[in-house]
Amino acid sequence: MMNSRRSFFQSLAGAALLSQSSPITAAEHVKRNMIVRSTRPEDFEMPLDGFSGWITPIERFYVRSHHYTPTISLEEWKLTIGGEVEKPLTLTMADLKKLPRVELVAVMECAGNGRGLYEPPVPGVQWVYGSVGNGRWAGVRLADVLAKAGVKPSAQHLLMDGADVPMGTMPEFQRTIPVKKALHRDTILAYEMNGEPLPVSHGFPLRMIVPGWAGDSWVKWLTDIKLLDKEFDGFWMKTAYRHPGHPVAPGVAVDPAKMHSVESINVKSVIAGPLDKTQVAPGAPVRIHGVAWSNETPVASVEVSVDRGRTWQKAKLNTEQARYGWRLFEYTWTPRQPGYYVVMARAFDTAGKTQPMTQEWNPSGYLFNGVQQVAVDVTADPIQPPQPAASAGTPNTAAFDAPEAFRGACLPCHDEKIIMQQRLTRVQWEREVDKMARWGAKVEPADRTPIVDYLLKLYGPRPR
Ligand code: HEC
Repeated sequence: MMNSRRSFFQSLAGAALLSQSSPITAAEHVKRNMIVRSTRPEDFEMPLDGFSGWITPIERFYVRSHHYTPTISLEEWKLTIGGEVEKPLTLTMADLKKLPRVELVAVMECAGNGRGLYEPPVPGVQWVYGSVGNGRWAGVRLADVLAKAGVKPSAQHLLMDGADVPMGTMPEFQRTIPVKKALHRDTILAYEMNGEPLPVSHGFPLRMIVPGWAGDSWVKWLTDIKLLDKEFDGFWMKTAYRHPGHPVAPGVAVDPAKMHSVESINVKSVIAGPLDKTQVAPGAPVRIHGVAWSNETPVASVEVSVDRGRTWQKAKLNTEQARYGWRLFEYTWTPRQPGYYVVMARAFDTAGKTQPMTQEWNPSGYLFNGVQQVAVDVTADPIQPPQPAASAGTPNTAAFDAPEAFRGACLPCHDEKIIMQQRLTRVQWEREVDKMARWGAKVEPADRTPIVDYLLKLYGPRPR
């Protein structure tokens, strides 16, 4: 939120005013079979089985938060519109609801979805497939609200700010979108999701809906809109959420000034079933199914391959569709010959764009849309594959004592979970520790090396 309002909302949170609904707790997410990437701030991922339905239920919808979830009372909440406008406005929810209600189905995908699949690994939440969902959003057109304020010709970008309060000295989560996208008839201010009041984890009471664009523009807990005569130059525009847009050598650092802001998502498909390493008997039909989505250019078709990409067959698409929604696809394959098969899917948009067989690397691991590979073993003689030991993949934390400074420096804002999913080199860990120190972590100069040594020992690069 903007500085003048920071203290106001902090005192609001302190006063524990009644909120309309309460955040979904981490324990509930576990119950609902979500992958918990972080509990503080909230980062929850949908597992593969979520890619079997058209509208993603709220309790299965991924959650991504840079800061802690704010508590907002609808009685106190207001939306301000200022900057390059003829008439600055302050609107209540009742004011907004007087404007025509619009509803649309749209995919929201985190810019970092698939980050966990990049090699070499990059720091950040290690999403695999499921930081994406297909929601039914309802609210008012942003253009209708802006018409009331009167956008001046000097306005070029629209700055969005929410009620979330950053930790430590972390920069506020503020982003701009170009005025052209803001005035698009499908850019909406949503107060409902899937027919219910917007849930707290999804931005109660108001969230920006920017169809076709990555989730970083879908600002939650919206309180302030400001029209600017240029792109905003804050951290989340000029340093974070940037993509080189051309091939770069894996592992290099690229100057943010030489990258551009992430906007549209990519055409992409995810296979929900069969699961990787499934065994089936020859002659038994296998239902290959999942979903496919795109950006402002809709999905035209999905093709499936069962021979590692040598040949492709058209999949059947569901008839239910919406311009920005995802499509369900399926293809029934009956393998006759025993063998080890690799199943793939690729989506095409109406402009002919499709997914790469090999994903281009980028420094922050954004916009992954490489073709997914699912191994299927067709065998008349299925064997029980060896079960991985319960502890496999989880570093044995007890084997190394954390330096005393680690807890005090690294665990006040979040727990170790957000750290444990990383697989970073020494240089990458040094950069992380320095970034956290800039955000307010208390790292004494003498503690930097012991902390980095500890992180590297437990969470170093994964073996090839
Ligand atoms: C002042 C609060 C604060 C402290 C102290 C802190 N962090 Fe963080 N850290 C954050 C926040 C907030 C995020 C999540 C940022 C986001 O999701 O955008 C984060 C995220 C991370 C991540 C995920 C990757 C990333 O960059 O988003 C790692 C790894 C991490 N912290 C490591 C550490 C280590 C190591 C320390 C101790 C040196 C530390 N943190 C101390 C606030 C803090």
